[in-house]
Amino acid sequence: MFGGLSCEQLDASLCTGDPEVSGDLEGTVSEWSRRDILKLGVAAPVTVGAIAGELAEAHQNPAPNPTTPNAASQAVAPAPVASAGRERLLMDFGWHFHLGDANDQKADFNYGENSAFAKAGRLFAASRPDFDDHDWRAIDLPHDWAVELPFVIDPNLVGHGSKPLGRAYPATSIGWYRKTFAVPASDLGRRLWIEFDGVYRDAMVALNGYFLGREMSGYAPFRYDITDFVNYGGNNVLVVRAEATENEGWFYEGAGIYRHVWLSKTDPLHVAHSGVFVTSEVPKGSVLATVTIATEVQNESDAAQTCQIVSQVMDEAGTEVAMARSAPTDVPAWGTAQLKQQVKVPDAKLWEVDTPHLYQLHTTLEVAGAAGDQTQTTFGIRTFRWDPEISLTLNGDQLKVKGMCNHQDHAGVGSALPDRLQEFRIKRLKEMGVNAYRTSHNPPTPELLDACDRLGMIVLDETRMMSSTTEGLSQLSRMIRRDRNHPCIFMWSLGNEENADQGTDLGERVCRTMKRMAKRLDPTRPVTVAMNGQWGKGFSKVVDVQGFNYLSQGTMDQFHEAFPKQPAVGTEEASTLSTRGIYDNDDDRGYVSAYDLNAPRWGSTAERWWNYYVQRVWVAGAFVWTGFDYRGEPTPYQWPCISSHFGVLDTCGFPKDNFYYYQAWWRSDKPVLHILPHWNWAGKEGQPISVWVYSNFDAVELLLNGVSLGKKTVTRNSHLEWSVNYAPGVLSARGYSGSRMAMEVRNETTGAAAAIRMVAETPKINADGEDVAVVTVSVVDAQGRIVPTAGNSVQFAVEGPGKIIGVGNGDPSCHEPDKASARSVFGGLAQVLVQASKQAGEIVITAQADGLTAGRLVIASMAATPRATA
Ligand code: GAL
Repeated sequence: MFGGLSCEQLDASLCTGDPEVSGDLEGTVSEWSRRDILKLGVAAPVTVGAIAGELAEAHQNPAPNPTTPNAASQAVAPAPVASAGRERLLMDFGWHFHLGDANDQKADFNYGENSAFAKAGRLFAASRPDFDDHDWRAIDLPHDWAVELPFVIDPNLVGHGSKPLGRAYPATSIGWYRKTFAVPASDLGRRLWIEFDGVYRDAMVALNGYFLGREMSGYAPFRYDITDFVNYGGNNVLVVRAEATENEGWFYEGAGIYRHVWLSKTDPLHVAHSGVFVTSEVPKGSVLATVTIATEVQNESDAAQTCQIVSQVMDEAGTEVAMARSAPTDVPAWGTAQLKQQVKVPDAKLWEVDTPHLYQLHTTLEVAGAAGDQTQTTFGIRTFRWDPEISLTLNGDQLKVKGMCNHQDHAGVGSALPDRLQEFRIKRLKEMGVNAYRTSHNPPTPELLDACDRLGMIVLDETRMMSSTTEGLSQLSRMIRRDRNHPCIFMWSLGNEENADQGTDLGERVCRTMKRMAKRLDPTRPVTVAMNGQWGKGFSKVVDVQGFNYLSQGTMDQFHEAFPKQPAVGTEEASTLSTRGIYDNDDDRGYVSAYDLNAPRWGSTAERWWNYYVQRVWVAGAFVWTGFDYRGEPTPYQWPCISSHFGVLDTCGFPKDNFYYYQAWWRSDKPVLHILPHWNWAGKEGQPISVWVYSNFDAVELLLNGVSLGKKTVTRNSHLEWSVNYAPGVLSARGYSGSRMAMEVRNETTGAAAAIRMVAETPKINADGEDVAVVTVSVVDAQGRIVPTAGNSVQFAVEGPGKIIGVGNGDPSCHEPDKASARSVFGGLAQVLVQASKQAGEIVITAQADGLTAGRLVIASMAATPRATA
């Protein structure tokens, strides 16, 4: 039993672990590692579990397995002798989409008619091969239908981005997706799975009319075994009905199949899904790493099989640096075997935030000397520890968490981000000096974690449903099993601000059960919960690391006095409010001044919270709410605001002024000198304007039109301020290192808007049907200076092998559509996202606005090998 539930109700991996490991549910990271490593030889004993195999993924596997005594005689296909290899085909292309209707059966494609569940194979009229979907829209994934809907004025929707989703909007809250795909006859005998990285939400899935499953979570990955239901040698119809009438969060969540979908094919004998778990240990000061590899092999055939597991560790150059071959290992029919191997990696290149070295593990199952199933797992060699004196360390060095929480939406595309945008966003944060990302408040898309692995960003990975029910534990286990090899993840978050339960005995019990599950699946990482009060009670009695949401919500120092050895981190701080390029609060338009002055009751200015945390070594640092603005939660306003003001960057990723505060104090490698506000204040001549400078120089001198306004000494983690009577011209700042003037920056009064300029994040993209050019559009004056007050409406056109997939400008009160070929600039800036087709060539983007010289940008879309698709 596990937390009151039987194994059958849970992910079976919980019940099949090494007894010595799983027995120590409360064990610490180092305890587990040491003991486990001592226990292991080069290859540890095999655990064989026939029953376990049947239970594996039982919570989401509707396919009946033939486990009766005469199962062999009922088998429809013999196990293939030679391996057909493993395939993972992207299913993002060639879908058809239509809105359904929760209140109108006809408009909901007759869902519910003719006792849909009375007999198998009858679910959804749209499942029939001859179903007429000519008036369904052709789309590719990822897709968020919420972002396509108009904004509506409804106080109930403000928190969620003012899109018509919910019980009151039955005609826009259900989305139908339909895709036809071929499966060759030669696949008979392989195991086939459909894998969804995330669908918002309550997805009901059918293949060829057969119900595959219903997934309530809008964020957890899920997969269905389709082996028995496939039409081999012909076409197959996959239908998804997603219902976004309920929320899971209190923010914009999107709607639809907004992450990738995959078709996976394996041999009957294969490495289990998420069945490889790599951990590593490097003694302090050493470069000899011990890498421990746990592999779960699954045999989905009627005959027992024997295989050897070959694990090869490859470095970044693709050279094998370590290898282990297991003894012949028996895997019973319809069962699993688990094996641990240990290898030494000499001269290990550690994963660090500045040099995030990665390794690949190649796993091969050899059957009778021939290669069978093969998988690859990316991992990193690094050691996170919590030290009572200096809090968090990475590879032995203190690491202050300079973190940011984020939701997952972006301008133009809502929740449906192409992979390139994940990388774009992580790069923006790195540029600011951010080293940590909290996936608030849900499991992220895998590509976000891949980007964090590659770019060096540590991650606090958070589950959505804080519950020890079967559903809650299932969501948590799917997240941990999927994500536990990512070197970037340093901790699991079991939940956020569960106000009712966080300080109670009930809360403690729930948290304890969740923690036990987390440790069983991953004994190497601590767990936390983001608590906004009741510190010391309830969840606090269970977590490895205390999470504080907001220093203003309690007394952190008192907590530390009471529990001086308890590791802690600020899971949420700041909630500072600002609008890019705006320097006065404006209640009518819903803008907040970008000076670091505004925060809600529970929040703080950037300067206040950071100074508080730098003075306390015992707390590891904190995560700002938020890195990027997101849709919904337009605190302190309601309509007409449709997105938040919490971001240090806006919804497009354009920096607000606070970006430079953090950059100055978080990046020791970069000289920073930034002046605010802009210097276009026609009509305010002679009036005092508050001028702030963010800088990490020793001193800064401010000058207006060449006349010095004084030199001031910089105080660490602070800003400088002058009151300047406005006169148009040049406001400049000089940064001094000691007595040497090392840098000068200028804010110039610009002329009138004259032209449009476009710059792409990268001049070349891949012609793979997925890559995206992130284009910054600026309105500039005759001298090419961005006009900070410009609001011109710009019309875009694209020629060549690309298309616009979204536009934005970061204005929290803009109601222009995201899916459009026009957008007004806000504070002189807008963003266009242009996606490559699979054809190489030049993509030419033009931008026009009344009275301005047009802009033109050429993007080279380079021949690339698209991912294999189904
Ligand atoms: C926190 C909450 C976040 C967000 C934030 C806004 O309490 O955890 O999700 O709502 O407040 O300040």
